Amino acid sequence: MESFIIKGGVPLHGEVTISGAKNAALPMMAATLLTPERCVLRHIPNLSDVQFMGQILTSVGAHVQIDGDTVTVQAGKIKGIGDYNLIRKMRGSICILGPLLGRLHKAKVSLPGGCVIGPRPIDLHLKGMRALGTQIVLQQGYICATAPKLLGAEIFLGGRNGPTVLGTANVMMAAVLAEGVTTIESAACEPEVVDLAQFLNEMGAKITGAGSPTITVTGVGELHGADHVVIPDRIEAATFAIAAAATNGQVTIRGARSDHFQAVLDKLREAGVTTETKSSALVIRRAGELKPMDVTTLPYAGFPTDAQAQIMVLMTATPGISIVTERIFESRFMHISELARLGANIAVEGPSAIVKGGSLLNGAPIMASDLRASAALVIAGLIAAGTTRVNRIYHVDRGYEKIDEKLRALGARITRVQST
Ligand code: EPU
Repeated sequence: MESFIIKGGVPLHGEVTISGAKNAALPMMAATLLTPERCVLRHIPNLSDVQFMGQILTSVGAHVQIDGDTVTVQAGKIKGIGDYNLIRKMRGSICILGPLLGRLHKAKVSLPGGCVIGPRPIDLHLKGMRALGTQIVLQQGYICATAPKLLGAEIFLGGRNGPTVLGTANVMMAAVLAEGVTTIESAACEPEVVDLAQFLNEMGAKITGAGSPTITVTGVGELHGADHVVIPDRIEAATFAIAAAATNGQVTIRGARSDHFQAVLDKLREAGVTTETKSSALVIRRAGELKPMDVTTLPYAGFPTDAQAQIMVLMTATPGISIVTERIFESRFMHISELARLGANIAVEGPSAIVKGGSLLNGAPIMASDLRASAALVIAGLIAAGTTRVNRIYHVDRGYEKIDEKLRALGARITRVQST
């Protein structure tokens, strides 16, 4: 296992280029199963989760080639059974269910487990598939789904905590080859859903309304191959923006879509950070002392849960009391106990974390628990005095392409070492 050794206290300066969005890439790779023709996806981030999705597609019979940031998939002849052990390891792999059902009218896919950020149910995915005419039984850890015929339907996909991103993607992918019209109400509006709908339309699907709470899918007989460029990763961009502000540096973010993470930029501005667009890049710079923040995570276009841990680190550097309320994943506070090891003063009250910020963090050995928590711990290491060792960084490699190289190019003292 590898760790990062970070010598903190260096403001980040320079330029960083944002990679393609992991959470757009994964469902889009799954969508290639909907056609026997060749699909090409470009601007795919080089991440362990992408490699993993490649293996899952291979396990159902697709030919997958990953070449730099381009993934080519040809799913000529495929089977409806996903490899149990591969699928249960990555939650995102649940989104092969919709494409397998759409193409083969049957699928046997292992149930994804919960994870450290919460229980992560899939009831809404299954509700959507059932509404399209699928019979589903859960057997020995597998979802066994068969649909003699997929028929368009009106489906309400809102849950306790709002819409579901992968659930919307999954139902949309099953519905493109269903007979008739499907309407998804309370659909997720995330840019990754919009990008997936665009890719599906490029494959010949008829989807309208993606990006709004009502998506309409008019079923077609078959889809064909397509060549698509994936959107930039808004969470990677948000993470670098927060890191620039937290280290009191100045970073130019290239290749990001600032309209995709306005909620984060808005909070940064409220905190006293300048966010300026200059020749199609975004320049992030702290403009004086930071001001306390009050952040609530919400479905898009609200503040993303995937940037909650990172903004909390900025709050530890902000004099006064800041509050984070997590409304998407109830237990997504694993980073707090690790931040406490660095001296952060954070109390949890139900879904809220109260951060008393302003005193300098001190380096210590800490452990990454999930992807975004790891990114937060890296930012904490960058602002802490002395040396921080972040263990179990395979979590960060799941979702951030070469984060250490990108940070080093901005002046950070971060090295990757083998854990002892
Ligand atoms: N939910 C249900 N039932 C369901 C599905 C979801 O109750 O059937 C609940 C969840 O428990 C949660 C809420 O609905 O409270 C939203 O979850 P959602 O389904 O939107 O999450 P997801 O689609 O499984 C994706 C991203 C996550 C990101 C969330 C929220 C991918 C591969 N994953 O997960 O990304 O946090 O949307 O934006 O796209 C990450 O990248 O670190 C990550 C965890």
